[in-house]
Amino acid sequence: MSRSTTSPASTAELHIHDQTVELPLYEGSEGERAIDIGALRGSTGLITLDPGYVNTGACRSAITFIDGERGVLRYRGYPIEELAGRRSFLEVAWLLMEGELPSAEELALFETHVRDASSLPAGVEAMLAATPRGAHPMSTLGSLVGALCAYRPAPEDPAEVRAAVVDLIAQLPILIARIHRHREGLEAVEPDQELDYAANFLHMMFGTPGEEPQVDPRSAAALDLLLVLHADHEQNCSTSTVRLVGSSKTHLFASIAAGVFALWGPLHGGANQAVIEMLEEIEQGGESPAEFLARAKDKNDTTRLMGFGHRVYKSYDPRARILKGACEEVLAAHGAGSALLDIARELEEITLEDDYFVSRNLYPNVDFYSGVIYKALGIPTDAFTAMFALGRLPGWIAQWYEMRGSDEFRIGRPRQLYTGPTQRLVPDA
Ligand code: SDX
Repeated sequence: MSRSTTSPASTAELHIHDQTVELPLYEGSEGERAIDIGALRGSTGLITLDPGYVNTGACRSAITFIDGERGVLRYRGYPIEELAGRRSFLEVAWLLMEGELPSAEELALFETHVRDASSLPAGVEAMLAATPRGAHPMSTLGSLVGALCAYRPAPEDPAEVRAAVVDLIAQLPILIARIHRHREGLEAVEPDQELDYAANFLHMMFGTPGEEPQVDPRSAAALDLLLVLHADHEQNCSTSTVRLVGSSKTHLFASIAAGVFALWGPLHGGANQAVIEMLEEIEQGGESPAEFLARAKDKNDTTRLMGFGHRVYKSYDPRARILKGACEEVLAAHGAGSALLDIARELEEITLEDDYFVSRNLYPNVDFYSGVIYKALGIPTDAFTAMFALGRLPGWIAQWYEMRGSDEFRIGRPRQLYTGPTQRLVPDA
């Protein structure tokens, strides 16, 4: 029998000086428990303080479950290991957004709608043409996703949302490929209606205008796997951004653009770019992995072992485990050198025996091995985070939709503990 997650499982007592407050305690479907502090300020005048929201649940959600201690990740109850390599990215996108895997008919219709929507407004193409080629892809991607708001009113009813979602899922790969071709001074390659989602993206990135696609199915399969592994990850920084921005009832695309910009940071989705730059620095800089790790452990050195550590996973990120295995296949298929993979493996081996990392539960996360595959596919290093955004889009959409449809929906507005000057008067001039 499934647990009720909306009626209190029990209560928690909070004793504050001479006051005792009873707060409802809820239990999630996986046995996680949460104290509902909704009545705290009203009954005590107190708020809680939790910088970085390390201990704070922002919402109830039925989309993704992570058990950081056991290295568990499930999309709508399906373990990531069951979905990776066995269900396509568009199937997983449907699962996240609709709650169930699509039937064959639903998937065929969804794929057709995405293919039919594969075009960009001319105005957005013109904006891209005016963008400096040296701009970081995430700067341009976030700006152009925001610009797409100009081409449709904020979707409100389910039919409008569904149409907007299909358009955005179709347009994001085109935007990322166009940005790449613009930065390289190359003519755009149009989408090919015969190719699946991942293959079409690689064709638009690396194809020749007007010529038949030449996409290696092994590359398309590797990219589809990467997109599945990045599709959602519950209330991470960028998803929480999408939810908070979306809670003001702004345009769906504005919320997604905010998510793109949050993901860009090197502590979050930008880590995949930082990992490859770190591995290349070790490879070229003459610094051994052990010497690099000594700096990453040094409190006086800002160096971090990028791609390691996680707010939730205190064990191996299951996505990193899957990607580590996929690296060898992709490198073999491409005949690409594994020098960077060898360095990554050596770094990991050293950390597994090093108390600094073991005592802090620092293990590889999704970003540690993903860059090796992106690089083997020919994706420019500073476009890796845009690839993360492409994968995360259905997760952002699913979380936005769940937030807007929740019966607990309200605009997000955290409190603070004020530490500034008490009242003072402006001195006479
Ligand atoms: C993603 O949240 C998600 O779900 C995100 C994500 C997703 O799918 O959406 O999984 C994707 O963002 C993965 C994370 C990518 N970022 C990196 O790889 C950057 C390197 N990692 C770190 O900066 C860090 O581990 C974080 C940001 C990921 C987590 O930071 P926390 O939870 O705030 O942990 P912390 O900074 O408080 O670190 C705890 C201790 C500190 O040492 P002490 O102060 O206890 O002595 O561990 C140390 C940190 O200095 N530490 C590291 C380290 N990560 C943490 N030391 C060296 N190298 C690291 N990578």
